[in-house]
Amino acid sequence: MTTAISFENILTDITDGILTITINRESKLNALTLKTLQEIRTAMDSAANDAAVTGIILTGAGPKAFAAGADISEFAHFTEEQATRMSADGHDVMNSIENNTKVVIAAVNGFALGGGCELAMACHLRLASENAKFGQPEVNLGVPPGYGGTQRLIQLVGKGKGLELLLTGDAIDAQTALQHGLVNYVVPQEELLAKSREILMKVATKSPVAVSKVIKCVNDFYRPNVNGMQREIYEFGEAFSTEDFKEGTDAFLNKRKPNFPGK
Ligand code: COA
Repeated sequence: MTTAISFENILTDITDGILTITINRESKLNALTLKTLQEIRTAMDSAANDAAVTGIILTGAGPKAFAAGADISEFAHFTEEQATRMSADGHDVMNSIENNTKVVIAAVNGFALGGGCELAMACHLRLASENAKFGQPEVNLGVPPGYGGTQRLIQLVGKGKGLELLLTGDAIDAQTALQHGLVNYVVPQEELLAKSREILMKVATKSPVAVSKVIKCVNDFYRPNVNGMQREIYEFGEAFSTEDFKEGTDAFLNKRKPNFPGK
């Protein structure tokens, strides 16, 4: 169970089947140490294998930051070898979030900069509070982004705006992020978690089999040398032998609400 694992840098809570992970380093604006990222991964992997969890929210402690980046004090003296390892491990964490079979929402409650922006972009959906700010300021530190920012930012906002943000290091506010498709909704801070839960509760009424297949197919669009159309044909066909499909079609034909077994 996700709740049984004890963590140093994150808080976890499961309510109504929704796992909320809170990055809990408020005095450091929730800057991401290597350990913090691994804890997030452990909590999410555990949720993926926990039938009681239907969705995941990732947020930051306090009113100011989701995460203000990778922890600069931790990596400032890294060697080239250590930095390469840091980036590769970070990519593994981000990929595992992106490939989670449960829907992951980033509830961005303030600064999402550098690694914080990359973490939010690895989630399936992003909701922002009105005070949220997004940016990839790594060029100010003498490095490019290292947790997938150069790839996911342009996937989400397009090459033109993405390159501008990556090259200038400028941060954008929540409304601008909404305008460019970086976030799905902007809401007052006090409504951020409730709106995230509302979306996850809606997804929880759908077929878990179909939801996880949608995630796989969409992710395959962005994988080099993988044919997303072929993936869709495969996943569509395979779904027909699942109990979820039998339940969904039977419920429709008998004019009742489906109750999906999730297999
Ligand atoms: N890594 C390590 N510590 C960080 C951090 C980061 N990415 N971001 C913030 N902190 C720490 C600060 O060092 C400070 O710690 P201290 O109180 O022990 O000195 C604390 O969090 C509060 O930050 P502070 O800078 O005082 O807050 P602010 O409101 O004046 O500024 C920011 C907020 C986000 C603009 C500023 O903290 C900042 O630019 N952070 C770095 C952003 C960045 O470059 N991220 C990419 C990293 S790859």
